[in-house]
Amino acid sequence: MARLTAGVASSHVPLMGVAHDQKKDRDDYFGPIFAGYDWTRQWEKEQKPDVVILVYNDHASAFDMKIIPTFAIGCGEHYKPADEGWGPRAVPDVIGHPDLAWHIAQSLVLDEFDMTIVNEMDVDHGLTVPLSMMFGDVAEWPVKVIPLAVNVVTYPPPTGNRCWALGEAIARAVASFPEDLNVQIWGTGGMSHQLQGPRAGLINRAWDNMFLDGLVGDSDHLRHIPHIEYLRETGSEGIEMVMWLIMRGALGKTTRCLHRHYHVPCSNTAIGHMVLEPQP
Ligand code: DHB
Ligand code: FE
Repeated sequence: MARLTAGVASSHVPLMGVAHDQKKDRDDYFGPIFAGYDWTRQWEKEQKPDVVILVYNDHASAFDMKIIPTFAIGCGEHYKPADEGWGPRAVPDVIGHPDLAWHIAQSLVLDEFDMTIVNEMDVDHGLTVPLSMMFGDVAEWPVKVIPLAVNVVTYPPPTGNRCWALGEAIARAVASFPEDLNVQIWGTGGMSHQLQGPRAGLINRAWDNMFLDGLVGDSDHLRHIPHIEYLRETGSEGIEMVMWLIMRGALGKTTRCLHRHYHVPCSNTAIGHMVLEPQP
């Protein structure tokens, strides 16, 4: 059977993609940011996951005000890096896993999560930056990827509680897939950041670290944080962190932290990264 072996959380700041692509990742500014991913790159080489369910948000690249799916799952064969205004990033195409993705889509819909099924879309920095952080400069991504897009751009995003429950349903879906696959789930975005308006540049280290603490162990209190608290404490884009709760919900009752990294600033943003293992 397929096995959900680990959860990975990471910010997806587009500037990290630029630094990676322009080989500035070890300079004075980016060195401490990228150093926090060295452990994970080595660990991923040893883990050799077959598939990553990559929870991310599209930033008006594949979806815009014409269509706003709350939860969308990519069931396609492959996805191209999106052109976000400067041409597509020169990173490999993302290869999907249609069999597992359709299985998860079916299992989720029968489990009463009404997913939007997407067979064709381009994927933006929300998805490709975490891949670069975890795998570096590669000719091909070493995993198949099932994109799972969440609307956190246009109000109303889903609640943290709904995200956590979706994670639990994803875990049931993976566990019922008959092929022997090593599957990871990643939650991306965050941490505290506000990109516009009078509070642009808002960063809240104490709140971010409370959130990181809360992902470890057996408490599920994070699922009950209301939207207004993300907005007040972490800025208008901090709501991206609800996507981490899909990852956390999928890992079950208790988790153990294998690696943790937090750094300020990256662009106008606090970045966080964590690797979690489900506990029996
Ligand atoms: C930044 C962060 C994001 O999560 C994003 O999607 C876009 C920009 C930033 O900090 O620059
Ligand atoms: Fe973002």
